[in-house]
Amino acid sequence: MSFYSNLGGIRAWGRKLVLPISKIQKLIVECLFEKYHIKKVIDFGAGTLYWSKWFSGLLGDNGDVIPVDIIFEHTKPATPMNCISHIDQIPKESLSELSLFFCCDVLHHLSEEEWAPAKEVAYRYCDYVVIKDINCHYRFKNCMNKLHDRIINGEKIHDVDPDILLRELKNAGFEVEYRDIHKLWYPHFMIIAVRK
Ligand SMILES: C[S@@+](CC[C@H](N)C(=O)[O-])C[C@H]1O[C@@H](n2cnc3c(N)ncnc32)[C@H](O)[C@@H]1O
Repeated sequence: MSFYSNLGGIRAWGRKLVLPISKIQKLIVECLFEKYHIKKVIDFGAGTLYWSKWFSGLLGDNGDVIPVDIIFEHTKPATPMNCISHIDQIPKESLSELSLFFCCDVLHHLSEEEWAPAKEVAYRYCDYVVIKDINCHYRFKNCMNKLHDRIINGEKIHDVDPDILLRELKNAGFEVEYRDIHKLWYPHFMIIAVRK
């Protein structure tokens, strides 16, 4: 077995170590999929398609998952899913009241200008929004996360303030649920928003 053939397994193990995967999945199922008939999921910043594949399983044959990631400009993943590289490639009229906008650990990679077009799609055109990120109010833990990203990816990382997101979502007409879920030194937070 080569290193590459084991890479998926190593990634899955690393993800489980730092991310409260089962709690996130349980909340999404209980707060959204058991209550509402969701037909489309936009997985913004889909990366390795981990969440896109999980949502595909939840939606079944009649649902539609659209993975969006800037990296798909250069590398299209081998999947039958309709992967796109820019959020504005999704025709607005194809978004309905049955659409969920999901983004996990993407916001702390984005400037306000980069987030703006995706935010517009989420707040204006989707009826369900789930945002999972790192809470900047836990200053030490937030710095640890920034350090991790800086060392591993060499990226500049932005603070994500969940209070701002909650305020914006309420102003856009959503009812919001909020959870802090800490794991290791990561102050994860999760927002689940449903349009009123
Ligand atoms: C930490 S990864 C998270 C990946 C995935 N959501 C997950 O939880 O496994 C952040 C992802 O955001 C993507 N990204 C960064 N800027 C973006 C942008 N402007 N539009 C779409 N995706 C972007 C990156 O390419 C990367 O795949």
